[in-house]
Amino acid sequence: MAQTQASKLPVAAGEPAAPQGWEPLIVGFLCNWCSYAGADSAGTGRMVQPTNVRIVRVPCSGRVNPRFILRAFARGADGVLVSGCHPGDCHYATGNFYARRRLMLLKRYLEYLGLDPRRLETHWVSASEGQKWAEVVRSMSETLKALGPAPRLGEWFGADLGLATETGPGEPPETGSNERPETGGQRDA
Ligand code: FES
Repeated sequence: MAQTQASKLPVAAGEPAAPQGWEPLIVGFLCNWCSYAGADSAGTGRMVQPTNVRIVRVPCSGRVNPRFILRAFARGADGVLVSGCHPGDCHYATGNFYARRRLMLLKRYLEYLGLDPRRLETHWVSASEGQKWAEVVRSMSETLKALGPAPRLGEWFGADLGLATETGPGEPPETGSNERPETGGQRDA
């Protein structure tokens, strides 16, 4: 059987080989206005696509904090997909521009951590592009199958990255309020 392009990808040193029959787990952060609707239209249009994407709906791709992605990897994702409106179509004007810049930097950070940067993909998919969504998922799934299971960031770094707990070091506890926590120090009048 002919090998696909993805199956020829070299696997980064230190990454484990895939066991027989293994399927990658993809966590997808999808903007509510475009890509979530695009994925929905792929589903209602009964387009053939892998079923290994767990979707997290966010208001805008600009809402995706890099910590969300690190936490997904720490908790077992083999790949993370961030998808939003096409550049220029963001419902909050510039959210996807921020996302694009942030995620480019994060890819370099992933490489520094020892994760293959191809495990993080960013795509722009509109509400009417169900076919494109199905293609994105198919191709990412192929790429990840070639790369094999991701090393677990949580096992490597755990609390050092603040990924082992819900609120890692440096993050304030959830209070349900926007007020800054009292520090006990001097306050401005
Ligand atoms: Fe879709 Fe900003 S609203 S990317």
